[in-house]
Amino acid sequence: MKLIVTGGAGFIGSSFVRQALREGWAEQVVNLDKLTYAGNLENVQPVAEHRGYKFVQADIADTGAIENIFAEEAPDAVVHFAAESHVDRSIHSPAPVMQTNLLGTFTLLEAARRHKIARFVHVSTDEVYGSIPEPHEADEKYPLQTSSPYSASKAGSDLLALSYFTTYKLNVSVTRASNNYGPYQFPEKLIPLMISNALEDKPLPVYGDGQQVRDWLFVEDHCRAIRSVLEKGGAGEVYNVGGNCSLPNLEVVQRILHATGKPASLITRVADRPGHDRRYALTNAKLTAQTGWQPEMTFDRGLALTVDWYRSNHDWVKRIKTGEYRQFYELNYSQRAD
Ligand code: NAD
Ligand code: TYD
Repeated sequence: MKLIVTGGAGFIGSSFVRQALREGWAEQVVNLDKLTYAGNLENVQPVAEHRGYKFVQADIADTGAIENIFAEEAPDAVVHFAAESHVDRSIHSPAPVMQTNLLGTFTLLEAARRHKIARFVHVSTDEVYGSIPEPHEADEKYPLQTSSPYSASKAGSDLLALSYFTTYKLNVSVTRASNNYGPYQFPEKLIPLMISNALEDKPLPVYGDGQQVRDWLFVEDHCRAIRSVLEKGGAGEVYNVGGNCSLPNLEVVQRILHATGKPASLITRVADRPGHDRRYALTNAKLTAQTGWQPEMTFDRGLALTVDWYRSNHDWVKRIKTGEYRQFYELNYSQRAD
């Protein structure tokens, strides 16, 4: 199988590219990425010399470039990860989020339709369901109730993708995953930020009361789920992907302190995020019933692996925090101060 993977230099996309080539179930992977602040070719270094791997730098919202790439590569399938993926950034600066997540997804869907691509997986998020009151959990028919510009843009792109099945019979599936964690995650999201700060003895900024609940999914489990949907998912179908691991943020931070051996005094309460969703919760029942997929990683083991990775790859973090993209990291970080 030949794949175009968009956003393959980011956190989850690079894990998917490495996994697909390492396991050999995809013969060729074209990594299509703009290399924004979040895209980093170091993330795909382990497969850079693989004979089935190719990198193409392009913006998914650039119609001409995307047309040329689809014409030249003629892929069997597209797996679409590329996005502006951070809620805080989307609150501070929503325009690039709309450009990439809405217009970029539209541009890809149009190219897929014109080139009669056999399969398209659109990678989305459980944030489209908004905050879920206890004791409920969202299945795929749960109403979309978005809170942030990021989640609204993802919900819009999900609906657009599904409309290409209903209207044009494009073979699209949508996946909605919970919060991912693991190696190579940009240190703006909760877990990598807290680990890297803890390792540097810097404050750990907890928003509000820290009792917001997220479901945690190890990135490699997510990537296996996407492969299952690519191979076995139904056209026009949506699949939730959760880690069966619901935790309040403060508990996650405490486990990170334990895993890094750092004191609780590093925890710093800061102002809450505007429009902060209180609780995400979802069920995987449909995906498990249709494909047999289940999350395999326990949170404690996944967190220990992740802490080890950040400890051993301090240079990777340092290059982000001090290098070319420092201003993006600092811009985001400064908003967290009280
Ligand atoms: P990321 O921010 O780490 O990576 C995004 C990648 O997309 C980067 O390599 C970036 O360069 C690329 N990109 C951004 N704009 C682009 C454009 N216009 N054209 C081409 N490439 C562009 O993101 P991630 O955390 O790996 O998330 C990947 C996907 O998974 C996103 O669609 C996100 O909405 C979804 N998702 C993420 C999570 C999570 O916890 N991180 C959870 C559920 C769903
Ligand atoms: P984040 O990793 O940004 O993912 P998302 O907003 O997509 O769920 O945040 C996860 C949770 O952690 C969310 O409730 C916000 C909270 N959070 C903090 O308390 N402090 C931080 O510095 C960050 C980045 C997040």
